[in-house]
Amino acid sequence: MPQWTLVTGANRGLGLEFVRQSLASGAHVVAACRQPGRATALNALAGEYPGRLRLLPLDVTDARSRDELVRELPLAVGDDGRIDRLINNAGVLHSGERFGHLAAATLDDSLQTNVVGPLLLTQALAPWLVDGARVANLSSTLGSIASTVRFGTPSYAISKAALNMATVQLACALADRGIVVVALHPGWVRTDMGGEQADLDPAQAVAGLLARIDALGGGDSGRFLDADGRVLPW
Ligand SMILES: NC(=O)c1ccc[n+]([C@@H]2O[C@H](COP(=O)([O-])OP(=O)(O)OC[C@H]3O[C@@H](n4cnc5c(N)ncnc54)[C@H](OP(=O)(O)O)[C@@H]3O)[C@@H](O)[C@H]2O)c1
Repeated sequence: MPQWTLVTGANRGLGLEFVRQSLASGAHVVAACRQPGRATALNALAGEYPGRLRLLPLDVTDARSRDELVRELPLAVGDDGRIDRLINNAGVLHSGERFGHLAAATLDDSLQTNVVGPLLLTQALAPWLVDGARVANLSSTLGSIASTVRFGTPSYAISKAALNMATVQLACALADRGIVVVALHPGWVRTDMGGEQADLDPAQAVAGLLARIDALGGGDSGRFLDADGRVLPW
């Protein structure tokens, strides 16, 4: 029975690198992104790895799009295909927020993209996860309540704090199937979101994260970790 890695926000940044490295290590991959037709790098990879990469459309904020992905999954992975790694990577950071000018739309979009989307997608995909699967939610130390000492990117920070709680809720909900759910901080990475000054290139960051995901044990479920396996403060 083929087992698949499913990556959201797979067309650029860390998501694209998750796809690349998963394919290189022999995995079958479902790459979900908003506009697969425009995802040039993903389409090139599909040519390089015939039969091992499927592209599906997904806007994580859109209930119909999430439902459609679940409906199309059997066509992509086969009736007996299952997911053994779900990487909830899609995320958004609205920069430039200033106190006194916070906007409901920015908060709402951050919550829909960074929390509601991954939580409800994981719920919808639960029947497709193998027992013992790994679910990795891409979080951030900016969502650490204990570490926050200054005002900055509040919509993002609030949404990642909420994603951490969603991670613990999912870990509890899926525990009886041995499914391990974690919130992972990738480090500060040179992507469109991280910017050019960031510490890590995507290849380094994703190599560490994939190694961490593969090394997870049952006792790790519900934890907030970095790529070295350090437990981060809530
Ligand atoms: N880079 C860092 O330093 C850093 C640090 C901590 C945590 N993270 C987290 O790591 C994850 C990946 O970050 P990144 O640096 O690769 O970000 P990025 O370069 O900005 O890429 C974001 C990805 O998410 C997708 N996305 C955004 N909204 C979406 C939606 N509604 N539906 C589906 N896909 C959507 C984007 O697709 P489009 O191309 O369609 O917009 C894109 O593929 C995020 O969750 C981020 O919060 C990153």
